[in-house]
Amino acid sequence: MSEISQEKPVYNYKVVRQFTIMTIVWGIVGMSLGAFIAAQLFAPVLNFDLPWLTFSRLRPLHTNSVIFAFGGCALFATSYYVVQRTSQVRLFSDKLAAFTFWGWQAVIVSAIITLPLGLTTSKEYAELEWPIDILIALVWLAYCINFFGTMIIRRVSHIYVANWFFGAFILTVLILHIGNSMAIPVSFGKSYSLYAGAVDAMMQWWYGHNAVGFFLTAGFLGMMYYFVPKQAGRPVYSYRLSIVHFWALISLYIWAGPHHLHYTALPDWTQSLGMVMSIILFVPSWGGMINGIMTLSGAWHKLRTDPVLRFLVVSLTFYGMSTFEGPMMAIKTVNALSHYTDWTIGHVHSGALGWVAMISIGSVYHLIPILFGQRAMYSVRLINVHFWLATIGVVLYIVAMWFSGVLQGLMWRAVNADGTLTYSFVESLEASKPFYVVRFIGGCFVVVGMLVMAYNTWKTVRAPKGSIAADAATQPA
Ligand code: HEM
Ligand code: HEM
Repeated sequence: MSEISQEKPVYNYKVVRQFTIMTIVWGIVGMSLGAFIAAQLFAPVLNFDLPWLTFSRLRPLHTNSVIFAFGGCALFATSYYVVQRTSQVRLFSDKLAAFTFWGWQAVIVSAIITLPLGLTTSKEYAELEWPIDILIALVWLAYCINFFGTMIIRRVSHIYVANWFFGAFILTVLILHIGNSMAIPVSFGKSYSLYAGAVDAMMQWWYGHNAVGFFLTAGFLGMMYYFVPKQAGRPVYSYRLSIVHFWALISLYIWAGPHHLHYTALPDWTQSLGMVMSIILFVPSWGGMINGIMTLSGAWHKLRTDPVLRFLVVSLTFYGMSTFEGPMMAIKTVNALSHYTDWTIGHVHSGALGWVAMISIGSVYHLIPILFGQRAMYSVRLINVHFWLATIGVVLYIVAMWFSGVLQGLMWRAVNADGTLTYSFVESLEASKPFYVVRFIGGCFVVVGMLVMAYNTWKTVRAPKGSIAADAATQPA
């Protein structure tokens, strides 16, 4: 072994700490907004007749703040941490790291200002206007250089599988963002897409679906491949399966976008291709989930005492659920019932809240003591409280949306013997109302859980270094 590889590298934990704390902050903001717009759907009076508080403007703010602010900060934090630890080297550039942190926060603050003002491209998940898009592209390019730069200067020849997933996520998001955001600006706050008609729709859902596949899935799988084995204290169940999982997932996801455009002006064969690719996608998705869950072989007993591990494992079961449901919904005849209904919203949140948020929360609980010089979190009991609040909240949310969605779909397609519609649209809204209240209650559970997490984090961070005793049940060596 050379001399250099024996030195203990000094990692850049500052940027990891910053992104980790902001994950919690934006999580609270984004999820509270989610609960607020959930309430607006059964109590429209909460729009207060103010344009910037209307559902239509706050909804994209919710999606942007949970996906890009909360999820994005979690991905930056974990990828920067994992790439350093598994490459045994400090980040390629501290300056680029700082630029990504401050640049990303500037993007988020710009979204918080512009979206309520009604400045939007109106493309879902790509609503931000062109000056912000340029900033996103620059930050992402810096992220790319820093991440791959660190891999290039790594001190171990092997590239750990989590880095494959993080790398694919970072590179693909750069391509998706630039490809879909091509636009002609007409003023500082307004631009028009370079694409038109069906091509625009195709580009948008090539972007939108792969934002799901790479931002909301591949990056978080990177998290899974590092934090599940670490927290369980076991190696990944099958390394071979993880490689097959990686290549199968990234080569299939990119084709599945047209399932968002069934029965539209998109050529029929592209819709069918999207459907077939989505069904096949079930296989690598479950392969990955099984690989994660089976990593616990021989360590199942830890679930009884370790709520952090519980967060990680339950997130994987939600991942399994949403990647079973997704291929089903991609079948055209099923989509004829589910599309435009709350079933889609339920599917989104079993993926986004159950999988994305839960795995991020578990990973953040793993990271905080390490980053702030403690042996454990301030209170394991509070992590447990958070776990139950989050789990009950997510279940209330998605079950309510399944009922509401299927009900809506069936009511909309019901026809009388003379061919007229059995129900008016307003009747279907009335039928959904109780479920909207249940969804709101579920959302409140989730938000209270996040506040508990913030309190626990505050106490951990503020305690004198090393003063919180290690709890063998919750913190791996
Ligand atoms: C307290 C937790 C949350 C609540 C109460 C909540 C609530 C909502 C509501 C009410 C909507 C609008 C539904 C509609 O238009 O009918 C929505 C949309 C959405 N939310 Fe959440 N949300 C929460 C957490 C999250 C998280 C953590 C994520 C992502 C990581 C997320 C991602 C989304 C997405 C992508 C949509 C748009 C779905 C679509 O267009 O089909 N949400 N959410
Ligand atoms: C094998 C995996 C998956 C497949 C095949 C799949 C398929 C689908 C289908 C068919 C729709 C409904 C499209 C429509 O009728 O408009 C949909 C919507 C959606 N899915 Fe999935 N899904 C998968 C996994 C996931 C996961 C894991 C997440 C989140 C982490 C997710 C997030 C979403 C979002 C955000 C939407 C709503 C998009 C929108 O209309 O705004 N999906 N998915």
